[in-house]
Amino acid sequence: MLRFETAGESHGECLVATLTGVPSGVPISLDAVNRELWRRQQGFGRGGRMKIETDTAELVAGVRHSQSIGSPIAIIIRNADWKNWTEPMSVTDFEGSDEKKKKVLRPRPGHADLAGMIKYNYHDARYILERASARETTARVAVGAIAKQFLGQFGIEVLSHVIAVGTATLDRPAQWEELVALSKKDEVLLGCVDAEAEQRMKAVVDEAYRTGDTVGGVFEVVAHGLPVGLGSHIAWDTRLDGRLAQAIVSMQAVKGVEVGLAEEGAHSFGSKVQDTIHYDKDKRSFYRGANRAGGLEGGITNGQDLFVRGFLKPISTLRRPLESVDIVTRDAEKAAYERSDVAVVPAAGVIGEAMVAIVLAQAFLEKFGGDSLMETRRNYDGYLEQVREF
Ligand SMILES: Cc1cc2nc3c(=O)[nH]c(=O)nc-3n(C[C@H](O)[C@H](O)[C@H](O)COP(=O)(O)O)c2cc1C
Repeated sequence: MLRFETAGESHGECLVATLTGVPSGVPISLDAVNRELWRRQQGFGRGGRMKIETDTAELVAGVRHSQSIGSPIAIIIRNADWKNWTEPMSVTDFEGSDEKKKKVLRPRPGHADLAGMIKYNYHDARYILERASARETTARVAVGAIAKQFLGQFGIEVLSHVIAVGTATLDRPAQWEELVALSKKDEVLLGCVDAEAEQRMKAVVDEAYRTGDTVGGVFEVVAHGLPVGLGSHIAWDTRLDGRLAQAIVSMQAVKGVEVGLAEEGAHSFGSKVQDTIHYDKDKRSFYRGANRAGGLEGGITNGQDLFVRGFLKPISTLRRPLESVDIVTRDAEKAAYERSDVAVVPAAGVIGEAMVAIVLAQAFLEKFGGDSLMETRRNYDGYLEQVREF
């Protein structure tokens, strides 16, 4: 079984991840991991933190001579900002003023601050926000980069793009080739495939900057090259749509997920929604009249591109803070402000790719198994043969 865990605080020494269950013999490129980390840091609307950090991963276990060896893969990503936080984030005792300890006493509406303080019995939101922070997703993206490299061995690719920032939307479908081109860019504005729509999105972020506000949006993750048959209809927790939804909504600030064109479908008649079934007798293969289901039926991949969308709420740290209460005095105060992002939709898309890649790699290994890549490939090829003969 493929499983992973992450640890690490936003201003702690480093982020750590372990990934267990990758078969041996998978080519692993550290450059590819670092490229994904770079992509996660991009986009117009990011805060000062992303200028401090240039994330690079260290693979400290489970990889030898650029190949997985079957044992747990361990990854470390050091926080460049740590040097400024060694005292407030010290593992050992540190005596100092509230300011020196960088206490956060005025919880931010929308963040984990207040609920976390009450739950973990701390009168300082620093204890909560350090882990609630989406900096944790750096570790997820590193893990996802390895899942992507595994899937890549079978011709499966996972990419994303931005379809809305606040009220500005992409009003046409995107082609797979456009997503590929987008992923290769070395400058990222808002991760939209359409230059005109991207400028409208930028205007929304500009407005948020001007007014001390923040803005959310929608990203779409697409998986290309999937076989029919990942996931299963047989139980609630084997349905791939449910597993993808959990993975996407587990992301910080993501409050909704859409599988295929779910929202449009809910407002339409069935005759306009289902993807008709056809058969090409020459090619001896089934094909569909459309792909509104997002490549999933009954929680099983149906061989079409898989697409899911994540709906991000606006970032909760505002430069013009909202009303809150001081946790010590209980007086009405404005919420705390700490250097923060204004819009993060392209970065969220990259994190979404990682989450989708991890879930797909899990489902793939459940179906095809194998302790070595060679064994997984043999199983996979046997299945493809079976599907061809179907
Ligand atoms: C890529 C990314 C970057 C984020 N950056 C910030 C940030 O700079 N400031 C902030 O307050 N929230 C940020 N968030 C959102 C918070 O982490 C999130 O709102 C918080 O943990 C509370 O969780 P919830 O919104 O899922 O309920 C970011 C989220 C993502 C996906």
